[in-house]
Amino acid sequence: MSEKVYIETYGCQMNFADSEVVGSILREAGYTLAATLDEAAYVLINTCAIRDNAEQRVRHRVRELRSRQGRGGLRIGVLGCMAERLQSRLMEEEDNVSFVCGPDAYRRLPDLLRGVAEGRKAAEVELSTTETYADIEPVRLASNGISAYISIMRGCQNYCTYCVVPYTRGRERSRDPRTVVAEAEGLFARGYREVTLLGQNVNSYRHGDTGFAALMDAVASIDPGLRVRFATSHPKDLGDDLLEVMASHTNICRCIHLPVQSGSDRMLKMMNRKYTVEWYLGRVEAIRRLLPDCSVTTDVIAGFSGETEDDHQATLDLFRRVRYDYAYMFKYSQREGTYASRHLPDDIPDEVKTRRLNEIIALQGQIALENNRREVGREYEVLVEGESHRSKERLFGRNSQNKVLVFDRGDAQPGTYRTVRVDDCTAATLLGSLTHNN
Ligand code: 5AD
Ligand code: SF4
Repeated sequence: MSEKVYIETYGCQMNFADSEVVGSILREAGYTLAATLDEAAYVLINTCAIRDNAEQRVRHRVRELRSRQGRGGLRIGVLGCMAERLQSRLMEEEDNVSFVCGPDAYRRLPDLLRGVAEGRKAAEVELSTTETYADIEPVRLASNGISAYISIMRGCQNYCTYCVVPYTRGRERSRDPRTVVAEAEGLFARGYREVTLLGQNVNSYRHGDTGFAALMDAVASIDPGLRVRFATSHPKDLGDDLLEVMASHTNICRCIHLPVQSGSDRMLKMMNRKYTVEWYLGRVEAIRRLLPDCSVTTDVIAGFSGETEDDHQATLDLFRRVRYDYAYMFKYSQREGTYASRHLPDDIPDEVKTRRLNEIIALQGQIALENNRREVGREYEVLVEGESHRSKERLFGRNSQNKVLVFDRGDAQPGTYRTVRVDDCTAATLLGSLTHNN
């Protein structure tokens, strides 16, 4: 019987996509993927290093797993950004970890596991300028059979001063567009109805003559019944060419994640974001002009180095102007090795960071609720995904804008498109009912 491996994933969508590549590499090498931790001989923890609390969560998990590790019991491997950042130091600090493997070294995993079985601890952390795993068909671990991630590029070299990603994921490289289209075609043929193209900065995708707009055009042309999403965009590179391609395909979802990070030009400069608030608002204006029904979401950081009350107020002002549909909001966390950790003091007291973050969260909550109230009475085409978490009698799905709609089940089936009318809302969810004309 082959040995079983259980994969646990923390962090961003890219990590979930990577875990599916890892699953495929291991299965190919003769291992079985365990459905639960209990049956596994190995647990691989795919990790995030973006903020300190993400790393603390993983350390806590690793320590918690110690109780399952009797003699010859469960072996732990740490993958992903934390493995890359800490390398063999992680095995010294957490001595129940048997190996670490960085994001560009996953093809080495079968060797690593074999070594561990023979009692050798090891770290594989070499970064690559070419690895894209383009030839590996990911196993769909997290999937509901309807929606899947496709990683189209890896790495980042924008070097935002606060960010560890360029150090943990290496240089930017794009995957051959033919392999991306083939993967999406294969998914559609197997019944999938939505793909999300992933990269740290998809707008700088380039392979030969193919840029991101052309890639989106090609994927969206596979079938009008296949929804196409993408994440993440960098505002400095979001061009009208992409917006025009989006406008020309109704199946490219009307949702753009456009991380702003701060509403203050002074902060943006210190963050090395390479745009101003004016430029950013110009991009939002272009989105609203070319794609009037498009939702806009963002990431923001509270309490970056030297942030004054005025800078913070500028962020709140920007939120009031843009009126985001959703925002991921964070407290600044200084990361070792970044430009900011060397040159920009982490000088905002934690209670000030918390207060500013809470102000942003409160404002955004209010805006999201107001935005949602305006949706009441509208009808949307929803891709039905499954049962609502709260009740078996209700289903949930998303509209093109990526808003979740919950509605009475009726005769609707997961994996199909239905029209849903919005009857009510919370700040996070639209509540609706199936219309009868579909
Ligand atoms: N501290 C807080 N948030 C961060 N992010 C990236 N680095 C840090 C950091 N050091 C946030 C940014 C980014 C998102 C993925 O995580 O907002 O867009
Ligand atoms: Fe980090 Fe900036 Fe790259 Fe995003 S674009 S991964 S924030 S360095």
